[in-house]
Amino acid sequence: MTKAPAPSEIDWQNLGFNYMDLPYRFLAHYKDGKWDDGGLTEDSTLHINEGSTALHYGQADFEGLKAYRTKNGDIQLFRPDRNAARMHKSCERLLMPPFPEDKFVAAVKSVVKANADYVPPYGTGGTLYLRPLMIGVGENIGVHPAPEYLFTVFAMPVGAYYKGGVKPTNFTTSYYDRAAPHGTGQSKVGGNYGGSLLPGDEAHKAGFSDVIYLDPATHTKIEEAGSANFFGITKNNEFVTPKSDSILPSITKYSLLYLAEHNLGMKAVEGEVFIDDLDRFTEAGAMGTAAVIAPIGGIEYKNQLHVFYSETEVGPVTQKLYDTLTGIQFGDVEAPEGWIQKVDL
Ligand SMILES: Cc1ncc(COP(=O)(O)O)c(C=O)c1O
Repeated sequence: MTKAPAPSEIDWQNLGFNYMDLPYRFLAHYKDGKWDDGGLTEDSTLHINEGSTALHYGQADFEGLKAYRTKNGDIQLFRPDRNAARMHKSCERLLMPPFPEDKFVAAVKSVVKANADYVPPYGTGGTLYLRPLMIGVGENIGVHPAPEYLFTVFAMPVGAYYKGGVKPTNFTTSYYDRAAPHGTGQSKVGGNYGGSLLPGDEAHKAGFSDVIYLDPATHTKIEEAGSANFFGITKNNEFVTPKSDSILPSITKYSLLYLAEHNLGMKAVEGEVFIDDLDRFTEAGAMGTAAVIAPIGGIEYKNQLHVFYSETEVGPVTQKLYDTLTGIQFGDVEAPEGWIQKVDL
């Protein structure tokens, strides 16, 4: 395993989204019906039994969040309690024992603090990406919940999603579904992502940045935009995002629903978004921790490309949403109560 380079050797401007083996991660074990306290470790390799349910039956869930360096050198997290709560729900869906939510947040903070030199400098657009992960492990072969579990939080610096400004990309609709009605689409579980690799690959080969998934029951409504939620801006100054039981409840989405209404004076709507009614939108985008806010130039559907604002320029409302959200995350814009948690260094 190649360890991460020293912080002084990292080119912060050109990081991308790649694995890096940082000095410390958090690891806790669940055995005999309870979680141990866990702690930091330098070992980035997990040692697990061949019968582990995570390997065979997808008993695995995860989260994704970021730590941000502010102008004055502080480090802060954006709504980590929401990630803890969502992982709790994912665990319930897969019959896994939730890791206590306050301890989840404390574990995340301990990993950020231990790897603080790897949080990219303010102004580079880079962040420290954190990956909490839980897997079912232990001696097992039947299709039932694992006897033991591991919970880990590891981290790596990642670059700004856009170099040189926010730029739109095109998406295509898919014949494939990422989740079933009443399935696991609402949960952040590994199985949802295994099934998305093929449609994602086909979209990339056809020159699109990712897939727009339609609702699995009728294929008439937009659900997700790759590994992100979809939004559209209407002529009437509404921020609209799909409501469905089979999409992942994005923390970025709920944050933008709030900011659209309270900071931008828009009407925020969770509702149906029909794929044959895209003319109602003047702008559209994808939103999530990794994508932040990614403007969608156009969506291909039935061999026709529907362009929203422009294939090359970001629309004014999308830009405002982006500036507000990233301003809060990097500490330049005042955050709503409780959204920001500082990491004690
Ligand atoms: C399928 C899917 N949808 C949406 C999102 C966006 O969620 P969040 O804003 O909480 O990162 C993600 C990423 O976490 C995702 O994997």
